[in-house]
Amino acid sequence: MSVSDAGEAPVFDSVSAGYGGHEVVHDVSLAVGQGQIACIVGPNGAGKSTLLRAITGDAQFLGGRVWLGGEEISRIPSNRLIKRGLAWVPQVDDVFTTLTVRENLELGGFLLPRKGVAARVDELLDTFPLLAGMTSRVAGRLSGGERKLLAIARALMPAPSALLLDEPTAGLSPEMTGLVLQNQIPRLSASGVAILLVEQRALEAIAVSSRVHVMVSGVIRASREAHEVTDWDELARVFLGEQ
Ligand SMILES: Nc1ncnc2c1ncn2[C@@H]1O[C@H](COP(=O)(O)OP(=O)(O)OP(=O)(O)O)[C@@H](O)[C@H]1O
Ligand SMILES: [Mg+2]
Repeated sequence: MSVSDAGEAPVFDSVSAGYGGHEVVHDVSLAVGQGQIACIVGPNGAGKSTLLRAITGDAQFLGGRVWLGGEEISRIPSNRLIKRGLAWVPQVDDVFTTLTVRENLELGGFLLPRKGVAARVDELLDTFPLLAGMTSRVAGRLSGGERKLLAIARALMPAPSALLLDEPTAGLSPEMTGLVLQNQIPRLSASGVAILLVEQRALEAIAVSSRVHVMVSGVIRASREAHEVTDWDELARVFLGEQ
């Protein structure tokens, strides 16, 4: 997919990233189709989070370019990323634990016109009915799954066109994992949001994705249409770095 025909969806072109000048992620190129889910799977320490953090300014952006909606978004400050239509949910530290559910959502709408915030909170409470019954609960008292749903809902407050999700099911119960991975995330993509999903649960992630990228030691080792990934043995070999 070229930059010009990518619509609102994000395109990564030869992105390198790391920490303190040390490169951890090397030359990653991938595109996420509009309204589609692309997943990145790979072993611990492969650099999956670092790639996402490089976009949001939490890791060093060391080379390459990232595009969204035909405009370059490499190295721009996080509030401008949000204005351009990008949202993200980090692997940890995803909500303000001392604030209530409603306050967390309101903060997610800090760039919206003030009059629109309450209506947008109501829309998201409709989308995530589990949160609707706990709007005055402090986020630090939520279960892991409730908290992850809140983090996703908060990221969605500005109605982004693209969403980066870093291990949204980590630490969740099987029921919550099912709700997030098989229900909420596909519904979001069906509503037109381009989703880049980093997941440890490779098989479940691939089942809801259109494209899968395997990252090993900071490089994309293999990229496939998700429906082509039927040979789990091959995937495991790529995962283990044997190919
Ligand atoms: N803040 C940091 N400063 C320096 N090095 C870091 C930092 N965060 C991560 N790293 C290193 O960068 C490499 C990639 O880490 P990263 O967190 O991106 O991997 P990951 O693929 O997301 O792993 P996981 O599946 O465990 O979340 C690792 O070697 C890690 O130790
Ligand atoms: Mg990670």
